[in-house]
Amino acid sequence: MTDHIRIVEVGPRDGLQNEKLQVPTDLKIRFIEALAAAGLREIEATSFVSPKRVPQLADAEALWPMLSHGPAFSALTPNLKGLERAISLDVDRIAVFTAASETFTQKNINMSIDQSIETFAEMISIFRASRPTGFVRGYVSTAFECPYEGRIDPGQTVRVIEKLLNLGVDEVSIGDTIGVAAPPEVKSLTRLVLNVMSRGKITYHFHDTNGTAIANVAEAMEMGIESFDSSAGGLGGCPFAPGAGGNLATEDLVYFLERCGIPTHVDLYRLATSSLEILKVLGRSPCAKGQLARLSLSGTSPT
Ligand code: COA
Ligand code: ZN
Repeated sequence: MTDHIRIVEVGPRDGLQNEKLQVPTDLKIRFIEALAAAGLREIEATSFVSPKRVPQLADAEALWPMLSHGPAFSALTPNLKGLERAISLDVDRIAVFTAASETFTQKNINMSIDQSIETFAEMISIFRASRPTGFVRGYVSTAFECPYEGRIDPGQTVRVIEKLLNLGVDEVSIGDTIGVAAPPEVKSLTRLVLNVMSRGKITYHFHDTNGTAIANVAEAMEMGIESFDSSAGGLGGCPFAPGAGGNLATEDLVYFLERCGIPTHVDLYRLATSSLEILKVLGRSPCAKGQLARLSLSGTSPT
């Protein structure tokens, strides 16, 4: 097994996008600063999506210039309009997003999979021209199962991944958007994906709806995958995927990696406290196991 695992913190974007109660921008900034102070080096900060579709992230323009230096920040861009907004703020790490399921893609971004790929082709060429050293992530959501279509044929997921690779994305984040996959599925999909791309470009994005996320990470690591998305406090869900639970909690991932002898350089206590203020505003109690365990060990009240 590897001695280095990359963690991409998606809490400020994936973690918050589904929250109905509007989180003030300065509180989001404090959350992001706390994540950075805990040692997270890559943070997906927001989305340049339609404010009507995702009101929670309508403050992307206000938030982006308030981000401090240090971590690499990225943002989701669904279309040309989103890209223009991002470029005007000098965003140099973008993420385009499609899915393995036609129905989900339609509901999520109002395009077919092929339309999304055509749109991304134009976006990526504009982005590369304006940011030659920029970084492009391609998301494939509902890689295992779709809330509308049910189980997805792994061959279909691989075909969508290949379409993204043909556009020259720097990495692909493979999403179990509704958190239903179990390790044998991760193993079979990873085997197929490794036929079309190098392991260094693969990130897994697990949700923990059914408590299988860490087991899936372990399986993926066995197969040589070294990059995972997670969200502090296990915040998360998707407004267009009914039933989607929270993301894999970053605390659970960090604990697991450290206990496996893989240094993360993340301060677990600072991480465990980073989402407390937001959880309080949202009227939620912390529920991620790694977070609760760290808070209770340090005598910090979780509420
Ligand atoms: N940012 C801001 N506004 C946008 C926008 C963007 N990226 N894209 C479109 N709009 C605006 C248009 O200007 C238009 O505004 P108007 O009604 O005031 O004229 C309106 O949204 C509709 O534009 P249209 O091009 O028809 O977009 P759409 O309604 O087909 O929506 C997406 C397409 C992709 C913008 C929208 O589905 C979306 O933002 N999806 C994101 C979903 C998401 O974030 N999911 C979670 C991540 S997995
Ligand atoms: Zn997600």
